Parts: sequence; C-alpha cells; structure tokens
Amino acid sequence: MRKKYDHHVGTIIVNQMALTVLGIETSCDETVAAVYQEGRGIVSNELFSQIDLHKLYGGVMPEIASRAHLEKINEIVAHALKKANVTLDDVDVVAVTCKPGLPGSLLVGVCFAKAIAWAKHKKLIGVNHLEGHAFSAFLEHDVPFPHICITASGGHTSMYLVHDFGKYEVLGTTMDDAAGEAFDKIAKLIDLPYPGGPEIEKLAREVNFQDFFHYPRGRKKRLDFSFSGLKTAVLYDLVKKNAYDMQTKIFLKKDDELFKQQVASSLLVCITDIFKEKVKLALKEHPHVKALTFVGGVACNKYIKQELKMFCEKRRLQFYTPSAQYCTDNAAMIAFVGYYKAKKNHFSDFDLDIF
Ligand code: KG4
Ligand code: ZN
Repeated sequence: MRKKYDHHVGTIIVNQMALTVLGIETSCDETVAAVYQEGRGIVSNELFSQIDLHKLYGGVMPEIASRAHLEKINEIVAHALKKANVTLDDVDVVAVTCKPGLPGSLLVGVCFAKAIAWAKHKKLIGVNHLEGHAFSAFLEHDVPFPHICITASGGHTSMYLVHDFGKYEVLGTTMDDAAGEAFDKIAKLIDLPYPGGPEIEKLAREVNFQDFFHYPRGRKKRLDFSFSGLKTAVLYDLVKKNAYDMQTKIFLKKDDELFKQQVASSLLVCITDIFKEKVKLALKEHPHVKALTFVGGVACNKYIKQELKMFCEKRRLQFYTPSAQYCTDNAAMIAFVGYYKAKKNHFSDFDLDIF
C-alpha cells in the first residue's frame, strides 16, 4: 500500500512516494483548479474566467460570481485532474482558498473541497489567498530568502518581508483601495471597460509611458499603501480639465483618444513611482534582503515589471515575477502552498470555515 490514512490520528504516511496536491481557487471571479506533484511541480492549472459575465457591470457582481463557480467547479476540477494524468485516487491533499474573498464564492470552493476530501479520505488544507500570491513566484523560480514581496491585485496591495515558506511579516498593506482597484476605478472614469489595468497599459504604451499630468504620489514615509486619494486627485483633475461632469457622472472626452492616453500614461507612471518609493523605504529598514518579487494581477503589467527590474538591477537585487497565468488568480499557487503545508503536517479540520 502506498499510503496509510487514519481519520483519528490524521496523518498521511507516504512510502517514498511523491505527494500529489489538488488546489482549488474560487475566491473572486475565476474558477480554477490545479495539480501540484512533488518532483514535477505544477502539472495542470485549469481556469474558467468569469470576466465576460461581469463586464456589463464594470466590476465583479458577487451573486453572479458564486452561481458561476457552482456551475463550473465540477468540470474545471475534472479537467485539471485529466490534464495532470491523475485521478482523485492519486490525490493526497485537497488545498482550497478559504480566505479572504467574496463569501459566496469562497463557500463554493470550500464546500466542494471538503466534499471530495471527506468522500475520498483525503487531507484538507485551507489556504490564505494572499499567501498563495506571496509564494507564486516560486512556481517558476528559485527565489532566495529573505526577500521582499509586493502583492498587487484587484482586492489587495501588500508588501511582505518573506523569511521562509509560510513565514512572512506584513510590512505594509492597503489602507483603502488596492492598486488594481485604482486602475479599474480610474479606467471606469474615462469610459474604459473592466478590468481597467490592461486597458490603461495599452493606452499608455501609445504615448510611450510619459508623465503628462503629474498626479500626486502621496509621499508619506510609511510602508502602507493608499490609492483612494489618487482616484480623487484624478477625478478632480478631470473636472478641472472639463473632461468629467460630476453631476451626471459622464466622461466628456470620449472621442479624444490622445487625452485618454495621457490620463492612462500619467496614472501608470504614478503608480509605478509609488511602488518604487515603497520598496526604497522597505530596503532602508531591511537592507539584508536578497530579492524582490512582484506578484498579483497588476504584475501582468510589462511597464511596471520593467521599471522594477531596472530598479533592482541598480541595487544588485534579484527580481522575480511570475508569468501572467500565475500573476492573476490561479490554483497553482494554492496547490503549492498546500504542498509545503502538507510537508509540515499543517492540515485543516473538516470544520474549516471561510473568511
Ligand atoms: O490577482 P487578480 O487577478 O485578482 C484579484 O485577486 O484581485 O488581479 C486583478 C487585477 C485587476 O484589478 C486588473 O485591473 C489588474 O489586476 N490587472 C492589471 C493588468 N492586468 C490585470 N493592472 C495593471 N496592468 C495590467 N496589465
Ligand atoms: Zn488574487
């Protein structure tokens, strides 16, 4: 027998066999399942993106999100197992995002994971979505410890000092809006579709990433992030430039392509500067770190990545960022965290709840 499972003692004994972890992620608007195998790494990461369902509303609609997860999860998990060339019987551990996220969406993933784990006598591990992002660079790179990690997504922007797998300190977090949220909200102000980040990047490239309007960087000497002030500053600047009507909430320069490019470019340069400024501050406090990782949906942005890479090169700091499929929400990062937690015997009980 390859392994022994005891419900009461709760240990897995694997006879020199590689651990296989099924990861499930449903915290927001992507239904994802992945398989991580010890020795092989990520062997599948199957995704159903709900972006088209939410586009109409300019943001994620929680009720629609949870219903779509419910419809898709079975199929996505089956695809992930098939692509990995394994069956549920080969899986040792089911790792699932249990926090933070939209309650209805999280519940679908957690209930599904519990059902599989219970029925098939597998171990269960609840994973913090943000820990998943924070270690996502390891899916493709050997990142040295200690390092600084910037996680920038639609829901969160945080900076961590990462000591080891599962061992990290929060250096700063978002006080209000996340960086991705700032991209999305400001994009909406100038009539761009959701999600705003990629649209802003496209427009900014057209004008060579110049800083036309010098939006405020909020130069407070602290490691926390705040982006809602930036949104207000852009809004007032649009009003001042007769480009936005506050009363009707209508953008008045819909056909002025150059103006939209200028707003997008100024915004992107501003947010990039904010990241650089925060890392500079963090390095003053933690000069011994060996690398910087940049993860989360916003890390898909080629301009920010290039700027941070140059910033690190100047300081002889290694720089790592995941490929786009592992920047946005994915289950590979959840399976990976599940894997190192399983190696440490950090399993969850079946009363695992969402947060
Ligand atoms: O990590 P993610 O897929 O989901 C959350 O956990 O929120 O991040 C989504 C966010 C959105 O706000 C989106 O606008 C942003 O990532 N994003 C970008 C780019 N691609 C996606 N932001 C800036 N530039 C991009 N190229
Ligand atoms: Zn995320």
